[in-house]
Amino acid sequence: TDRLTILGIESSCDDTAAAVLRREPDGDTQILSSVVVGQEALHRDFGGVVPEIAARAHAVKLDGCVVDALSEAGVSLSDIDAIAVTAGPGLIGGVLSGVMLAKGLSAGLGRPLIGVNHLAGHALTPRLTDGLPYPYLMLLASGGHCQFLIVRGPDSFSRLGGTIDDAPGEAFDKTARLLALPQPGGPAVEEAALSGNPERFALPRPLLDRPGCDMSFSGLKTALLRQRDQLVEAEGGLRQSDRADICASFQAAVCDVLTVKARRALKTYLNESPAEPAFAIAGGVSANQTIRASLKALCAEHDVRFTAPPLRLCTDNAAMIAYAGMEQFIAGHRDDMTLTARPRWPL
Ligand code: KG4
Ligand code: ZN
Repeated sequence: TDRLTILGIESSCDDTAAAVLRREPDGDTQILSSVVVGQEALHRDFGGVVPEIAARAHAVKLDGCVVDALSEAGVSLSDIDAIAVTAGPGLIGGVLSGVMLAKGLSAGLGRPLIGVNHLAGHALTPRLTDGLPYPYLMLLASGGHCQFLIVRGPDSFSRLGGTIDDAPGEAFDKTARLLALPQPGGPAVEEAALSGNPERFALPRPLLDRPGCDMSFSGLKTALLRQRDQLVEAEGGLRQSDRADICASFQAAVCDVLTVKARRALKTYLNESPAEPAFAIAGGVSANQTIRASLKALCAEHDVRFTAPPLRLCTDNAAMIAYAGMEQFIAGHRDDMTLTARPRWPL
């Protein structure tokens, strides 16, 4: 293939993002720019992402993001060879904003349009960052998602299992809220857990007795709520050390569940005898050092390469959409003006 310059657009949740990616004829691929505008401040007072507010903010910010991504990359619109846009899954208003803009650019420039599944963007990122060969095993764990996938090709995934209720990041966020720690909860809970005793509170490890890779995290919240209320009643409030112990116990429970299920997923994957076995994690939860270390040790035990993309590429961004779009483009995938936003779109 010739040199390819791809514009990526992402607006499926609470980050508005645009990026420019360039692939040289020899396959070398560089992120020329990756602009992410978060909406945290807009949603903070509501305890979660408000879809209407998110949609409006995407509509306001998207054009500027694209302009910034082009200028940071030092390219102009006429240099763009194809436009990749997240077409789902996600909040319909935000996805629509991105898809409409991408269609307009595609029609105006006469360049191809590629609708990308947001989860495929996350799942293909380890190829961009570490050049992982297919097939590899992936755990995608964020505030909205949790699943084990065998990634076989740009548009070929086998889902081995996932959460049947909350995502683990969501559980971290709820735990933080319960303890009056700041949002997003993941980093706050992880920090508090550093000085805590992970064995003080016996929390459930849901679904471990069930075969397969499905997980459940919503029961943890209920168990924590009970522990917290008992402590408050007994002590008249929460001590700093209680908070630390709750966080450490919670984190240990999540880590155990992810690790036990990862062991099973790995077994299924290794049964296929992949030539260069590799396991990658992505999503905001992969920032957690305890979880990361546990999964890394599991891989070492099985002689499997372990990778985690840098955090700015693990969390929502448009470089991953441009990259997935690029791989799909090379594989011959094209969309046209009939591309629709799909709020639900399983891989
Ligand atoms: O991938 P992400 O940025 O956004 C989506 O959910 O799509 O993930 C954000 C989630 C939040 O729930 C946040 O609490 C969690 O990832 N998170 C963490 C950590 N850092 C972020 N969870 C556990 N430990 C962390 N260090
Ligand atoms: Zn995401």
